Amino acid sequence: MRIFFISFYTLVFSLVVNAQRKTIDQRVDSVLRLMTLEEKVGQMNQYNGPWAATGPLTNDDNLLTQIKEGKVGSMLNVTGVARTRELQNLAMQTRLKIPLLFGQDIIHGYRTTFPIPLAEAASWDLEAIERSARIAAIEASAAGVHWTFAPMVDIARDPRWGRVMEGAGEDPYLGSLIAKARVKGFQGKGLGNTDAVMACAKHFAAYGAAVGGRDYNSVDMSFRQLHEVYLPPFKAALDAGAATFMNSFNDLNGIPATANKYLQRDILKGEWKFKGFVVSDWGSVGEMINHGYAKDNKDASMLATNAGSDMDMESRSNIQNLAQLVKEGKVKLSLVDDAVRRILHKKFEMGLFDDPYRFCNETREKEQWNNQPHLDAEKDMARKSIVLLKNAPLPGQEKQLLPLKKADGQSKIALIGPLVRSIKEHLGFWSYDWPDDSTRITSLWDEVQKKMGDNKLLYAKGCNIDDNSKAGFDEATSIAKDADIIIISVGEGRDMTGEAKSKSNIHLPGVQEELIEAITATAKPVVVLISAGRPLIFNWTADNVPAILYTWWLGTKGAEAIADVLFGDYNPSGKLPMSFPGTEGQIPIYYNYYNTGRPATSDSDRFYRSAYIDFSIYPKFAFGYGLSYTNFNYSNITLNGASLKGNQKLTASIVVSNTGKYDGAEVVQLYIRDMVGSVVRPVKELKGFQKIILKAGESKTVSFTITTEDLKFYNNDLKYDWESGEFEIMIGTSSKDVKTAKLTWNK
Ligand code: BGC
Repeated sequence: MRIFFISFYTLVFSLVVNAQRKTIDQRVDSVLRLMTLEEKVGQMNQYNGPWAATGPLTNDDNLLTQIKEGKVGSMLNVTGVARTRELQNLAMQTRLKIPLLFGQDIIHGYRTTFPIPLAEAASWDLEAIERSARIAAIEASAAGVHWTFAPMVDIARDPRWGRVMEGAGEDPYLGSLIAKARVKGFQGKGLGNTDAVMACAKHFAAYGAAVGGRDYNSVDMSFRQLHEVYLPPFKAALDAGAATFMNSFNDLNGIPATANKYLQRDILKGEWKFKGFVVSDWGSVGEMINHGYAKDNKDASMLATNAGSDMDMESRSNIQNLAQLVKEGKVKLSLVDDAVRRILHKKFEMGLFDDPYRFCNETREKEQWNNQPHLDAEKDMARKSIVLLKNAPLPGQEKQLLPLKKADGQSKIALIGPLVRSIKEHLGFWSYDWPDDSTRITSLWDEVQKKMGDNKLLYAKGCNIDDNSKAGFDEATSIAKDADIIIISVGEGRDMTGEAKSKSNIHLPGVQEELIEAITATAKPVVVLISAGRPLIFNWTADNVPAILYTWWLGTKGAEAIADVLFGDYNPSGKLPMSFPGTEGQIPIYYNYYNTGRPATSDSDRFYRSAYIDFSIYPKFAFGYGLSYTNFNYSNITLNGASLKGNQKLTASIVVSNTGKYDGAEVVQLYIRDMVGSVVRPVKELKGFQKIILKAGESKTVSFTITTEDLKFYNNDLKYDWESGEFEIMIGTSSKDVKTAKLTWNK
């Protein structure tokens, strides 16, 4: 009976959705029928607002007049109710009164800045990540924004590439789940609700594989790798309902993504049946001239539109040429109609045809100015994102250095480093500056002071983030000698990782690591906090300092979150979503590599092996790695069978015990290896994880259900299927620390 009701309601629901869709389709067509070719092309044109830019601006030719003439379909970088209303007023003066769409890079929060996406990925907490995107959408939509250019779902195996901070790291499985969570968060209960913004899965595709980690660079990869590693998060975003996609700056195997028919027409709009629209990246249509793929802007507009790019962000190639291209028969009118239909559809779904000002509510905007529940959620997300990389006992002692004791009235703490008193650096790249930031955001200094009560705190900056001066070292070492414990706060400035921030040297910048060495030489216990947008290299610190927390860029409540972890009000549980190299020469470095014909089994196994003669082949910190203040013990794996057939299900279980003194959360990770394949298979692939909370002394059985879906891969003919054979099931605390069980699984 229940089944009957469920299916009855599902039927009614899908009829309603279809009916709505149909009405929108009909309304879109009725608008389209009235439009001139020039007005259609106007919808395929997006300009940057007159107030901000995230890329090179083309001439600001009478922008406002063009809006009034119906030559603009969307604006980016226009936020705030007042400004969006001002421009929407102009759109309402056009012949057909087609509303503008306002897009903005809401990458990790708006008024409340959340941790950078890479940091959030370290939480492996999908609910928290969805909530973070939800809050970003609530705040941004209240400020007139309809559309965020997020999530960035590019797989990133190269920390030289500055944009690693915007994504979920190196793994397609984790990346897909996070892509889905972010899309769901942004779009909330669905487009049409005034607190939902359209998501935009970007950058389609393979942008993260830019050669040499250099931004905007070429990408050359096999179609198998494209499908297996780089496309899954995009598909996941689409399945979660992502309203739009953004193509990308790079060429893929010689064809710029912006004019890549295979990506946009064959896969995205063909095989995947994507119904939304594709926006170009900033200027990427016109930049095909520099690629040497288009002769001029006219050629570029033709190539992009024919290949399925629907809206031109800031290159003015469409607005200046597309109507003429249609008249000359170089672009079919049906393709322009298809693009415009997709764009109008979204405007209808957003309810903008019914009320173009529905996102322009001053009261709602003000309510989001200091929204306490949002700030609380931010702090929660920030604490979950912190990764404890090291926590060794001090010489001669059993107890680990962290967590520190609060207000014991005895210890003197010295806070040293260029980031101790910083505020803006917590926000990171792709965040917004607010005039009251210096009063509403606290520094590490403020927060440690709160925890330590009246105890004396000492401070020295020691050095700047990124220059060679050691002038402050003496003062720093002298206060260090005076203290019982030293916290050193170092890392990157907020604009050192991000778009166009590729680096060939990803060591801790400037003389910061030398400062750490100088302070450690005082023989006082040292905790190092590293704040950065990407995996950095800090081998001396990793080898010599007893306690290290990787704190990324954690957002508005970052300092509070760090202090909570330092003093044990929160037990860290973050796990790295990217491998941390020990030297730039190891890059690209990732856990799901192929074994090669001459695999090295250790760093002393180098004789004619796939190894480096001058450096380890292993990452300094592995994918999935991260410690807790407590310890987790893993039993052996039990399987429900060692020889499976066809569509049977495998259950793999393991008992995880908290053997330490603190309650804590652990991310239990499942990896699978297909031992022999018709194409070479990775040494392990993440196929599941569970974040569990265990009280001190508690044990839990964690079970994973594995089906043949989890064994599938793209074979040499790009067919997605699984093959009979032997498999290794691995469960553990990181990609390098797992228990293993074997089985056979045959068709
Ligand atoms: C970036 C995009 C971004 C766009 C708009 C481009 O430079 O690559 O990710 O959405 O600018 O700001």
